[in-house]
Amino acid sequence: MKHRTLFCATLVCSLALVAGRARGGGGPDDSASDIPHLRKQGTATQLIVDGKPFLALAGELLNNSATSIEHLNPIWPKLVEAKFNTVLAGVSWAQIEPQEGKFDFRVLDGVIQGARSHNLRLVLLWFGSWKNGLSSYPPDWLKKDFERFPRAQATAGRSIEQLSSFSDANRDADARAFAALMRHVKSVDGRRHTVIMIQVENEINGLDHSPLATQAQQGLAPKELMDYLQSHKDALTPELRQVWEAAGSKTSGTWEEVFGKGGGADEIFIAWHYARYTGRVAEAGKAEYPLPMYVNTWGEGFPKEGQRANGAPKPAVIDVWRAGAPKIDMLSPDIYGGDYSGMCAEYTRSGNPLFIPETGNGPINAAKALYAFGRHDAIGFSPFGVDRPDRLDKAPDLTGIYDLLSQLAPLILEHQGNGTMSAVLLKSNDPPQKLQVGNYTLQVAFWPICYSMPLLMAGEPPPGTPPPGAAVFIATGPDEYFAAGSGVKVTFSPNTPGPPLAGLATVEEGTFVKGRWVPGIRLAGDDTGQGQNLFELQRQMGIQRFTLYRYR
Ligand code: DGJ
Repeated sequence: MKHRTLFCATLVCSLALVAGRARGGGGPDDSASDIPHLRKQGTATQLIVDGKPFLALAGELLNNSATSIEHLNPIWPKLVEAKFNTVLAGVSWAQIEPQEGKFDFRVLDGVIQGARSHNLRLVLLWFGSWKNGLSSYPPDWLKKDFERFPRAQATAGRSIEQLSSFSDANRDADARAFAALMRHVKSVDGRRHTVIMIQVENEINGLDHSPLATQAQQGLAPKELMDYLQSHKDALTPELRQVWEAAGSKTSGTWEEVFGKGGGADEIFIAWHYARYTGRVAEAGKAEYPLPMYVNTWGEGFPKEGQRANGAPKPAVIDVWRAGAPKIDMLSPDIYGGDYSGMCAEYTRSGNPLFIPETGNGPINAAKALYAFGRHDAIGFSPFGVDRPDRLDKAPDLTGIYDLLSQLAPLILEHQGNGTMSAVLLKSNDPPQKLQVGNYTLQVAFWPICYSMPLLMAGEPPPGTPPPGAAVFIATGPDEYFAAGSGVKVTFSPNTPGPPLAGLATVEEGTFVKGRWVPGIRLAGDDTGQGQNLFELQRQMGIQRFTLYRYR
């Protein structure tokens, strides 16, 4: 699991850079204004690809699948069949820089070519200094030179296979390689935009008790961080503000003087060093080719009693990341377990756009994807390990929902950030939720598909926990909506002056074909609770258009 955030300041910076290059004109930068970038629409942030907003209906490959073109060849068509439009693929530092300063991008070129020829976009995952907190992807010439490229120490004197975030040599070697990668991506893809976004490192986390780290912790809190805290003090995350205020809101001093002692203080200290290091790597890459960049992470708040800080880029330290790594555009959560909707909310605090680069597989993903796009204006959603043979060879669980979402994408993208779209994700014991969408309040209750009337009429509902219900609602006119989902039932009440009751005027199932609504059957009776509600559960996940009217 991990986090996300789009920093508005960063967005402005990144966009200014793009615009500046475009204005410069001439040579390879002619394509600069078309570089995939982030753009605000109301309260949402959208990923713009080839000039248009884009929903990444994505899947992440197993870690090492993209180290062999031959390995990927039979996989591409299956990914297309499964309805992915974007693939997240790792780039191994060891593979692209087999000797110091000598780069080999042949495999990467094949991966880009493979994706392009299957009409798929790519998000490249830079497996540089850190992968899941450890350092298995740096080249062996670097690993062997441990005096020059120091390791972190788990306890004083005991090195682990993790490059220290306190070493300038480590950071600069990573930044040089990442810059070479981005320069190359620009040279082979700067006009085609198969590569649309970059993940910098992977699941950064881990403590360091090396002498370098200990010395840094005894030193002064950096001026850049102190300046940021002061200039953003009214908008800081509550966790960070609390730690700072508890230590007296000082504007300078040692780390301990400014943040005190304990889990929160440790978290801020180590997060700063990871942010500074990763920020420099991202900066070197963006100087070559400024694609949107994120870090993936998991977790939420500061360590509780008995837990250790780990410096991961989670929402509690988003301000530290904004201050230390302004070229990182968002913190993106890997959400495998726990409270999915809570994590989505946590990772959209303070304007962070939601991109979920990793999540589990299984049928529950359909509900989760719908919720992320409909409720939190997500840029993308991506289960992990989609090329595992047992997943590829079965019909992937996401195919249906990605098909549906690709039909709905133009509508979702038009409505992101303007208050005319919302979504629910409801487990069996969740209370109904009220959504204000357009001119009506929608009350949405869990209503499991396995209890639907046709199934009940056929016998007992199947045993076991019913899958969650999920639905998205988009107001397209004063009394007109599109909805998609299943496992919920919906009632309506007006929220503007006029007759107090609302009823369903028309309900139709249908599909979008090339953006045009093509109605199928019309629904009433059993399929609308005899006209009392939108009764999604009666039918499998699909798209419905409905209109409401008012009466007394
Ligand atoms: C999270 C990591 O970010 C992925 O690269 C992969 O290692 C998965 N865990 C495995 O479940």
